[in-house]
Amino acid sequence: MQNFTFYAPTYFVFGKDTEKQAGSMVKQFGGTKVLIHYGGGSVVRSGLLDRVKASLEAEGISYTELGGVKPNPRSGLVYEGIKLCKEEKVDFILAVGGGSTIDSSKAIASGVVYDGDFWDFYCGKPIEKALPVGTILTIAAAGSEGSPDSVITREEDMMKRGASGNAIRPRFSILNPALTQTLPPYQTAAGITDIMAHLYERYLTNTEEVEVTDRLIEALLLTMKHEGPRVIEDPNNYEARANIMWAGMMAHNNSCGVGRSQDWNSHNIEHELSALYDCAHGAGLAVTMPAVFRYVMNHNVMRFAQVATRVWGCSMDFAHPEATALEGIAKMQAFFTSIGMPSDFAGIGAKEEDIPTLVENLCCGNGRDGTISGFVTLDKEDCTRIYKMMV
Ligand code: NZQ
Ligand code: ZN
Repeated sequence: MQNFTFYAPTYFVFGKDTEKQAGSMVKQFGGTKVLIHYGGGSVVRSGLLDRVKASLEAEGISYTELGGVKPNPRSGLVYEGIKLCKEEKVDFILAVGGGSTIDSSKAIASGVVYDGDFWDFYCGKPIEKALPVGTILTIAAAGSEGSPDSVITREEDMMKRGASGNAIRPRFSILNPALTQTLPPYQTAAGITDIMAHLYERYLTNTEEVEVTDRLIEALLLTMKHEGPRVIEDPNNYEARANIMWAGMMAHNNSCGVGRSQDWNSHNIEHELSALYDCAHGAGLAVTMPAVFRYVMNHNVMRFAQVATRVWGCSMDFAHPEATALEGIAKMQAFFTSIGMPSDFAGIGAKEEDIPTLVENLCCGNGRDGTISGFVTLDKEDCTRIYKMMV
């Protein structure tokens, strides 16, 4: 195991009706003037926004609001939010929604206290200072409610990139699984896929002897395998929603990733797809992961065989471990299909003729040096082959 530090100080409030504590939580973390940030309207339709406002009012906390965050959030609204926060002297940002709303909130939080362009943070500059952010999560997926990360798409060139820093870790996150019961099945399934991707990205490591985190990841993957179909079958299954929601947080706050090298190539390859075609990130991952895994599996075939036996119930073929590895990947892909996720380019509206653009943006965009690194370092030729496997 590698040396590591782990600092994840988000205060979680989990369970039914917990959104009513929004006002007291903001107060506890020092907020006096709040920006309520939200997406395309699901929180308005569900009545959640009104309940959150009532909770702030009950604590005497004033607020301003900015809706309109799109899935795969854009830079334009971030600039607007930064301007609004400065004008209104906002000192706390409350994200009410999914990963996109939370990421947009984190970007605004970092930009308000920075003299330069917030995009600098999305070119590799670590975020060291930001306004405090709190979240009320409405979809189990991205894990942004417990992560130090934010992913934004710059509109001029549709460059989708991530930024990171402990300063943007949410101070608190309110997780009420009942709020996720209004999700369309496709979004629920995309969330399940994303959570599983966050686990796989950590499982694919080049560090040896990481039994504790291997076993944690396997436990969470098994949970998703069990609860995913139950929630697709019955969207109102609170207990399944609850298990998925907490698994989503644990999959990405890095408790499963400490002390080990991680992959993230599937995410990098997918981000170009959701940037260009605006597909749901989880749907893009359902298409991307099987192709990437088949391409890189010989780098450490036993790692793929291990997850195949421990999670997907395959029997180990000791004479041909690659057959076990391939069977595990096929079972993972069949699982994604069974919950309604696509399996190829056509399923996310992607086009074969765009592959050179995708590869160029992926390997060279925003200052990259022609390769992406992770479990295996991939160059343009590798990435071209991987995208072709998805057609
Ligand atoms: O915008 P509204 O109207 O709220 O609708 C949303 C949106 O259309 C809808 N939705 C959310 N909660 C709902 C609901 N509809 C009905 N009822 C509810 N309770 O679902 C749609 C998707 O929402 P979004 O926030 O985009 O989903 P998600 O949480 O999957 O976030 C995706 C974004 O997170 C990034 C992705 O790349 C993508 O941009 N990621 C962020 C990460 C991080 N910050 O750590 C890590 C991830 O790997 C990921 O890259
Ligand atoms: Zn993800």
